[in-house]
Amino acid sequence: MALSQPAPASAAGAPAVRNPQSSRPNWLYPTAVVVVFSAFIVYGVVVGLFETSGRYGPYLSPFFSPEIYVRIGGFLIPPGIWIAPFPLAFRLTCYYYRKAYYRGFLWHPRSCAVAEPHRGSYRGETRFWLFNNLHRFALYAIIVQMAVLFYDAIAAFYYQGAFHLGLGNLILVVNVVLLSGYTFGCHALRHLFGGTDCFSCHRVRYQLWKGVTVLNVNHEVWAWASMLSVWGTDVYIRLLIHGVIPHGPWN
Ligand code: FES
Repeated sequence: MALSQPAPASAAGAPAVRNPQSSRPNWLYPTAVVVVFSAFIVYGVVVGLFETSGRYGPYLSPFFSPEIYVRIGGFLIPPGIWIAPFPLAFRLTCYYYRKAYYRGFLWHPRSCAVAEPHRGSYRGETRFWLFNNLHRFALYAIIVQMAVLFYDAIAAFYYQGAFHLGLGNLILVVNVVLLSGYTFGCHALRHLFGGTDCFSCHRVRYQLWKGVTVLNVNHEVWAWASMLSVWGTDVYIRLLIHGVIPHGPWN
């Protein structure tokens, strides 16, 4: 058991601090977070700013759903710009992602039982981080987007007047399932249903709270899986758009 492991000595002779919850090196998790999140953010920015469409035949990328095309003076505003703020706000204010980026990017702290670098007085999520308290409102917006993504996944089965089935359909369905596991396991949604002093007075709310709890237990896993699925879905559709994946007539 990790708790019983002797702590290795540091170079100065003092025992190195070890996360009592994990036998893994305490830099591993924050490093993985920084690498994967940074790659995702760079990818998202490039696609959002420089790609003009997320549609290939019946398939629509979640980065571009719903499709909004606005031209100003003949110049097409990158469509992804209208969509990105909502999932971005939702993930940035998510309770799990807060832990991940506080640890990964800010070392705040980088692991349990590891001291932080000195940074003056602690203000919690008050000043700059105050926006994190708006998570519930981001949730409302993302539930609307989830309905659109479900529509996209179902609509992709019907194309040019006929039933259509391809690898893209499977990818879109897996994506909405993983996104649902993440969205509907949200802590704010759990509180929305279960934030009451009397469960027995609200049987429906209690059942909903239990349902959200099932997903909430593994919120971290859903968060990673859904982020990777959104990413993978866009990559697949983009490879089709750019002709990297041979197709004909459809994949
Ligand atoms: Fe993670 Fe709400 S707490 S999505």
